[in-house]
Amino acid sequence: MQIKKSKVWLAALGACALSLAASAAEPLKIGLVLPMSGPFASYGKQIEHGARLYLEQSGGTFSGRKVELIIKDDTGVAPEISKRAAQELVVKDKVHVLGGFGLTPSAFAAAPIASESHTPMIVMNAATSSITTKSDYILRVSHTLPQVTAPVATWAAKNKIKKVYTLVADYGPGHDAEAQFKKTFTAAGGEIVGEVRTPVKSPDFAPFLQKIKDAKPEAVFLFVPPGEQTIAFIKGFVERDLAKAGIRIIATGDLTAEDVLDGVGDNALGIVNSFHYSEAHNSPENKTFVQAYYKAYPKDRPNFMAVSGYDGMQLIAKTLEKTGGDASGDKFMAAAKGLGWTSPRGPISIDPVTRDIVQTIYIRKVEKVAGKLQNVEFEQTANFRDPGKP
Ligand code: PHB
Repeated sequence: MQIKKSKVWLAALGACALSLAASAAEPLKIGLVLPMSGPFASYGKQIEHGARLYLEQSGGTFSGRKVELIIKDDTGVAPEISKRAAQELVVKDKVHVLGGFGLTPSAFAAAPIASESHTPMIVMNAATSSITTKSDYILRVSHTLPQVTAPVATWAAKNKIKKVYTLVADYGPGHDAEAQFKKTFTAAGGEIVGEVRTPVKSPDFAPFLQKIKDAKPEAVFLFVPPGEQTIAFIKGFVERDLAKAGIRIIATGDLTAEDVLDGVGDNALGIVNSFHYSEAHNSPENKTFVQAYYKAYPKDRPNFMAVSGYDGMQLIAKTLEKTGGDASGDKFMAAAKGLGWTSPRGPISIDPVTRDIVQTIYIRKVEKVAGKLQNVEFEQTANFRDPGKP
């Protein structure tokens, strides 16, 4: 009798193990919504590169499940397209995890899809503070504008800059940057002598530059989505003699992203900015990352978006390690909250309450290192949370 009973148990256990193995073997589908065309196509490329690099280093599997990466192009600032892309990924492709989101309007548009379908949604760039409040299924591995703005505002006030003019792109992250800069800088005794918001798409900076010059600030603080706009702004700034008039540029590191620096050229030298990732960050994890990135993509310089794509995949992998390969929405979210690891940018973790990223923010200056323009870090604040959250 005893023997019979244990045989039945063994058979049942075997069946259980088989079904677990079967579900573990089911491929894990990850759908990324990214700008792969249009003026922000470089965002999609960087994030995809970083994500594929992590996946390749993991042998193409997370917790024994083969990973299928599906990418949908949302063309940039086009919320309707982003929403449709997220919907198709969930409904037609049946992805287990959503990710990507290069720009704020894209993340806002997809948030209801994550909520309705209980699909974890990993934001890999969009950086308006409130994004993580739009769905309980959102996790962010990039940064928030208040998080990267407050430290440079403090630095400016401490370094004898008294009068600043702010220029920001007229949408979520720009508004966040403007509000945080004003708050931190004026609390430290600084004065805002003028402010302007510029169109998100293809702004003509000439009239704004003239106004800034006439207001005679000691510095201009700016946030515009990096790329063509960075190059246009700095070119105009120099051509219209704002630099000669003694006005400095201070910014978040979005402005001096490594892939854009070469296009800006030596006019970027000396720009002080605060941010979470520099290609020149001195750590073993970053050296390994940068080396592997150049090996995989020899024509491209890695920037913060590539690291965010890399860490976004790393978050998924580490979460599945905790759940034993189970990617169902609620289990995934519970396991992801509070996770931490050493990223190429430095130590990071996911705040278990806000689901937003906690990380070191560095003050950097653009300098030439071995003939290459780099963001050289010289001060830092560890474990810095988004100050934009209530
Ligand atoms: C955004 O749209 O949220 C955004 C875009 C580019 C950045 C940061 C934030 O560098």
